[in-house]
Formats: sequence, structure tokens, C-alpha cells
Amino acid sequence: MANDNKILIFDTTLRDGEQSAGIGLTKFEKLEIATQLNKLNVDIIEAGFPASSPGDFESVKLISEKIKEPVIAALARCVPSDVEAAWIAIKNAENPRIHVFINSSDIQIINQLKKDREEVLNMAVFCVEKAKKYCDDVEFSPMDASRTDMNFLYQLIEATVKAGATTINIPDTVGYTMPWEFKNQIENIIHNVPGMDKIVTSVHCHNDLGLSVANSLAAITAGARQIEGCINGLGERAGNAALEEVIMAIETRKDLLKVETDINTKEIYKTSRLVSDITGFPVQPNKAIVGANAFRHASGIHQDGVIKSKSTFEIMDPKSIGLTGNTLVLSKLSGRAGLKSRLEDLGYNLSSEEINKTFEEFKILADKKREVTNQDLESLMSNQKRSERSSGQFELVSIDIESGSNKNPTAKIDIKNTQNNKIKRSTSTGTGPVDAIYKAINKQIDLKVILNEWRIEAVTEGIDAIGDAIVKLEHEGSLVVGRGSDTDILVASAKAYIDGLNKLSNK
Ligand code: KIV
Ligand code: ZN
Repeated sequence: MANDNKILIFDTTLRDGEQSAGIGLTKFEKLEIATQLNKLNVDIIEAGFPASSPGDFESVKLISEKIKEPVIAALARCVPSDVEAAWIAIKNAENPRIHVFINSSDIQIINQLKKDREEVLNMAVFCVEKAKKYCDDVEFSPMDASRTDMNFLYQLIEATVKAGATTINIPDTVGYTMPWEFKNQIENIIHNVPGMDKIVTSVHCHNDLGLSVANSLAAITAGARQIEGCINGLGERAGNAALEEVIMAIETRKDLLKVETDINTKEIYKTSRLVSDITGFPVQPNKAIVGANAFRHASGIHQDGVIKSKSTFEIMDPKSIGLTGNTLVLSKLSGRAGLKSRLEDLGYNLSSEEINKTFEEFKILADKKREVTNQDLESLMSNQKRSERSSGQFELVSIDIESGSNKNPTAKIDIKNTQNNKIKRSTSTGTGPVDAIYKAINKQIDLKVILNEWRIEAVTEGIDAIGDAIVKLEHEGSLVVGRGSDTDILVASAKAYIDGLNKLSNK
């Protein structure tokens, strides 16, 4: 395996990424992300951890039934009932994989598991053997491998390979290792453990010291052939290796790394936007590859260079990640054909019925905004997707707000219940206009929720920008992200809250 120059991309956005504090996805949202990951052409999708909750079990099962090309992996502790749950959830997948893990460092074995090395070794072998009875494709991860005694690590890996593991994943669970140290560790494992030449060596790097991508690349130079990570670098604590960064580093520095992936890089930007949209986790503007500024040149010297030749300051073509070069704006004078062609540039191939619907919405927007940019169109398309996704019981019909320095903020809101098609009105005052809106909505939708976060982002620059409202709502331990867009940020806030309530009532 070590001679093969193909790098397998293992996406764990739906498992480790979903473990990020503040993320809660419904099974349909997870399916939508998995569908996009399939278009990105990742090799493996880790769909979840079925034993962790009934919701996770259902999501893994749904993804296994619907997404056929990639391997679908399910995580399990070295606990027999976890392995069983993982198998039941993925057994309908075309290419199922069970991924079992157990703590391997003394720090974790003693303090967390309260066991000894021998017990850990026996549990690992027992559960890999059990997984192997269900499924040919078994991955084993010794958790906290980078802080594990090397002799014990060799023993554990050798035993689990003999028990049937086909991939051995070396996690830098706490993001502790340094690139040169990790390279050494991977080289040592590959050279010293019998059987490593017959299986795939994988790495899973966390970003606590900001080194997850560097460590993943260092592991490739040592012979690792599977890289685990998340879109936008999501994941536990400081996150996992950002897959888009690993992929584009491999692509851009083929000369040095001499490896390749099967990723359709043109889907990177769209995947990043979708994950950010659904999780409610913004992408920082200066984020490598997918940040809003990643291909923008601000200083005069840089602009001068790029005008003369892009190669002066651009190491990647923005088109290679799916950013369209077409930045001309559309306006209310633009026609259906112009809109259709721009949407195609952005990767949206719509039927004529869909174009008609989108054109109506475009016209309304173009009446409010002088210029409609690519970002506005992206926002319009994600808004449509969102309403299809949540198409819930409640719909905002209209809203009137009174507010100002001499006024008691008051909201009057009409909401349609799609189950009986009845429209109800409620009115409330509040400490501010958003508070008044949410109190008015609460009078009609009887679900006790905690509002954990509310924020507004401008989709583009300018006074007439679309406002994107994001709320995080919690109900009995379930967390959802609600979103809504409008040129009026109070209307956007109402839409986001109703979107969140619809998701909670569907959970
Ligand atoms: O970080 C880690 O060690 C993990 C394992 C479950 C692979 O996420
Ligand atoms: Zn992890």
C-alpha cells in the first residue's frame, strides 16, 4: 500500500465535525451534506456514531441507504453493543465500514478507562474480530496514539491487524504532535509493525496547536495513504485538519508530494458554503482556500502584479475550487437567460420550472437592491434549499414592527400553520424589536426553547446587502440552527427563528 500514490480522503464532518460545540444537525441536513460530499467525490464518509444517540443511529442508517458510491463508515467504541449498533446502522450501505477505537495512551487508559494495557489490547482484538464478522472493511484507531508508548502501540496495531483491521488510523487526538515528530512516528509504525504493507495507514489530526494540516501532510511523506478531516476544519475543540486545505496542498504541490486524490476540486467551494450554511459556523474571511479573502488582492503592489500576470501572487486558480471568474453584476434589467447562465456558472443547473420560480425571487430582490451579486444569488439559492429542507409546519406570512428611541418595541406577526392552512396573528412587546418578534412567535408556537445564539451577517458589502440571520435553539438537549435571509434584518430574524422551531418540531 505504501507505494500507491493515491491518497484516500476520509471525511468526518458528520461525526467529529458534528462533535464541535454548538453544532446540532437533523438527519435530513446530514443527508444533504453527505450528498454534497459524494459530489466532491470523497472516498469515505464517516456518517456518525450510531451508539451515541437514536438520532445519530437514524442519520447513519439514512445516509447508508441513500448514498451509494463512497464507503460509509460508522464509529464504535470497543464495546460489543457499539459494534452491533454500528453494523445495524450501515448494513444497507453499498460499501460499509466499521470504525472501532479505544484509548491507547497511558494517560487515557489509566485516568479515563481505569484499565490496564492488557485489558485494552483484549478489548480491541475482541471488537475488531466482532466487527470483521459483520463487515470486511474494518478500521481501527488507537486513540491518543501520538502520546502512546511506541512499543505498546506496535503491539496493539499488530494484534488488530491480525484480528482483521484493513485500515489502521493513527490519531493525534489532542493535537499535540509536531510535523517532523509525527512523520517519524508514522515511518516507525510502517517499518516496525508486521502486516502494515497489506493495509492502509491513515492519520486523523486535531488542530489544537494549528498543526493539523501540516501533520497530515508530514504523514503522507511518511507513507500514510488515508487522511481524515472535516470540511472547514470543523471538529472537537479547535477542530480537525481542514480537508479543503489538505486536498489543495496535495494538488498545488504535486511536484513535491508526488501523490494525488480523486477529489473533484471544483466542488470544494460549494461544499464549504453548504457546511457553513447548515451548521451555522461561519468561515473566517482569511481562511485558506475557502475564506472570502482567499483570492482577493488588496495592496497596490499585489494588484499590480496580478494584473500583469496572475502567477505573481496566485498559487492556485480560483476556478479550480469552483469559484466562478464571472463577477459582473446582474440588475433588475437582467433577463431570465442572463440569470440562468449566471446560475450555471455558479454550479446550479435548474429546470425551467425552477428557473421561473428563482426568476420571480430574483426580480423581488433586484427591486430592493441596485445590483445582485454572485453572493446574493448564492444566498437566494441557499434560502430556497433551506425552505425545502425545513418545509415545516409554520410559515411566516407577514410581520409589522414598531421600534425606535421613543417607542416600546412591538411586533405583530401572522404565521400560517401548514397543517390546517390557518393564519394566526399575535402581538408582543419586548426589550428590543427582536425580543418582541420572538415573544410574539412564542405565543403561537408552544415549544419551550432556549435561544443560545442570535447573529446577523451581511451577505455582501453595502448598505443594501442581504442580511443573513442565524439562531441556535435548544429544546430538551436537542440543538438546531435556524437561518433566514432578507434585506430587512428583522424579517430575516423572524424567518430564522421559525426555521429553527420547525426543525425542532421535526426532530
Ligand atoms: O480524535 C480521535 O482520536 C478520534 C477517534 C475516534 C478516531 O476522533
Ligand atoms: Zn477526532
